Amino acid sequence: MSAIAIREVRPGDYSQVAKLVELAFGDRGEAELVSSLRDHNDVVLELVGLIADVPVGHILFSRVKVTGDHASDAVALAPLAVLPDFQKQGVGSLLIKAAHQILADKAETLSFVLGDPAYYTKFGYDRQRAAGFESVYQGEYLQALAFADTPSAGTLHYSPAFGSL
Ligand SMILES: CC(C)(COP(=O)(O)OP(=O)(O)OC[C@H]1O[C@@H](n2cnc3c(N)ncnc32)[C@H](O)[C@@H]1OP(=O)(O)O)[C@@H](O)C(=O)NCCC(=O)NCCS
Repeated sequence: MSAIAIREVRPGDYSQVAKLVELAFGDRGEAELVSSLRDHNDVVLELVGLIADVPVGHILFSRVKVTGDHASDAVALAPLAVLPDFQKQGVGSLLIKAAHQILADKAETLSFVLGDPAYYTKFGYDRQRAAGFESVYQGEYLQALAFADTPSAGTLHYSPAFGSL
């Protein structure tokens, strides 16, 4: 794979990112989610991976509120997208690892993902770490990764942007 540069998304990237996400997923739903998360001001971190200055991968983390005995903030990874021609070449891995480092540096403590455990366990996500939380997404695909000491129970509140998915 050619050299990849990873940086935070800028407004000038929005249209290319929308096309990338649509091409990766094969429909507009996830691109609309990205736009809606921005509109709701719920984006915590959004990175783009570029090869020769062209976006080939994108990752977004949005705010999740955890309520209960130990109220706290968490993040949710969604969506993650790599252009079809660049998949299975490590772009997704680089984006996830870079994002986790930035999130930990920003003192974020807990990340959730709803996705294929065969993929996300490679990056430390764990089904058991998520099992104690109440969520509309609770089930075998909900996994979590802690960057620090955090609660293992509570109720998860995702951005309203997910409601329109
Ligand atoms: C899923 C996706 C983001 C992965 O990105 P990628 O750049 O192709 O992934 P990588 O090359 O970094 O793969 C890392 C590892 O995961 C494996 N992998 C890739 N896609 C996988 C998948 N869908 N399921 C399970 N394992 C997968 C790779 O074989 C590789 O394994 P290895 O480390 O043992 O070699 C990308 O395929 C994509 O955009 N798919 C369409 C959109 C989508 O489904 N997004 C995820 C929604 S939860």
